[in-house]
Amino acid sequence: MHRRDEEQLITGLIKALGTSLKNRGLYPSTHPLVRTPVEKVYRDLLPFFADHSELVLVISDGTLIFEGVPIFSLTSSLESFMDRLTRIGMPAVILEKGITPADIDSFVRFLHETKEQDLPAARIQEILIQRGIAHIRVKPIEDTEENDQAIANEIYENAVSVVVSVLRDVRLGRIPSGAESERVVKDMSSMLTRNRDAMLALTLIKNFDEYTYNHSVNVAVLSLALADALSLSSGDKVDVGMAGLLHDVGKTQLALDLIRKPSTLTVEEFEEIKKHPEEGFVLLGKMSHIRPAAAYMVREHHMRFDRLGYPHPEPDYRLHPNSNLIPVADCYDALTTMRSYQRARYPRQALEILEKIAGKSLDPEVVTVFANIMGTYPVGTMVRLNTMEIGVVSGQGIASQGGQKVVLLFDRDGNPLPRPEQVDLGESAGSANASRRSILGTVNPQFFPAATAGTLLTAMAPATA
Ligand SMILES: [Fe+2]
Ligand SMILES: [Fe+2]
Repeated sequence: MHRRDEEQLITGLIKALGTSLKNRGLYPSTHPLVRTPVEKVYRDLLPFFADHSELVLVISDGTLIFEGVPIFSLTSSLESFMDRLTRIGMPAVILEKGITPADIDSFVRFLHETKEQDLPAARIQEILIQRGIAHIRVKPIEDTEENDQAIANEIYENAVSVVVSVLRDVRLGRIPSGAESERVVKDMSSMLTRNRDAMLALTLIKNFDEYTYNHSVNVAVLSLALADALSLSSGDKVDVGMAGLLHDVGKTQLALDLIRKPSTLTVEEFEEIKKHPEEGFVLLGKMSHIRPAAAYMVREHHMRFDRLGYPHPEPDYRLHPNSNLIPVADCYDALTTMRSYQRARYPRQALEILEKIAGKSLDPEVVTVFANIMGTYPVGTMVRLNTMEIGVVSGQGIASQGGQKVVLLFDRDGNPLPRPEQVDLGESAGSANASRRSILGTVNPQFFPAATAGTLLTAMAPATA
């Protein structure tokens, strides 16, 4: 495409977006005057994405800049549109290859509905993700990884507070609403699609803090990642995520000292614990925003693959087809969590244990998919490199090429680095560079008290706007 054609394309895009935005204020969102321009934008972009991966439009002083050159062919009728972008505080609009009419439609709706002004770019990005807009960004790529981590942290923290409030309601004898849970599950699900590493890293890192509510959120994240890898429909994914988040809600009825009991349970105590799936099932049945599938997954999360678990299923009882996901996530998270009575297993050891019990308590196919998602060194794992430096795995490259990304925290003598530094282990792959870094093995984060969950997260998300 020639520059002139590209400029024409961009002018056309902005015009169509502006028309859709203007008409959205006047007509319902399904009206052709709103829909048609959105479809036009989508169609016009297709030839551009035949040989580009993204279209970057920088906004500066109310002007649109494409590849460093301002576009002046914008007519004054589009000033109000540019004005809207500027007012919200958008530094840029970046359209990515793979963009869908739904992305464009949601983006126009975002522009129409947002009344706030001068939002930080990270906040705008977060809203776009929450609205499920997968292929439109406002920040250049080099910043997005760090931003993604910051947004993932926030989504994680929100999910924890939702769990806290649901459990509080249950303890007070109220039936909690499922609306908030549904919202955070959708947020976690779109964040996983956008940047799986950022979301998955939190499930391990948060386990450095011994914090019971994290388990619920971790199981939701891990089972959503499984649902994603198994290409479940978005409705089914929400059911799995909801069930993951609320799988142990039935334990709320139990005495706290029983849940945290460090020693082996007596027969009577175990009988008490065994009631939690059924109690969770009953509770979910009364909550709003929860579909029966999620309630069944909660009831069935300890029935085991060989059906020798509890509550003991009748011989002709048919489990929900997605009930085999949560047990894998549940088991992995329990193994990698530090408890007062149990040291946390390394992710690698936990995966080996899962493989041992596959076919007995866990569905072997799901365990295989899970092991593939996590890779040799799951994100969030603390590792020692051949250079004797210590860091945390922050991104999963292609495992066979040793392509992980690692945030370095300690130098070869064990001194904390003044500034954590991200390195790409795959970067010099193939070259004859003798100093290429590679992972030697896992380190126990407890030996590095300076590396608390908080510092690790700051290291992985240094530039929060
Ligand atoms: Fe459970
Ligand atoms: Fe659990």
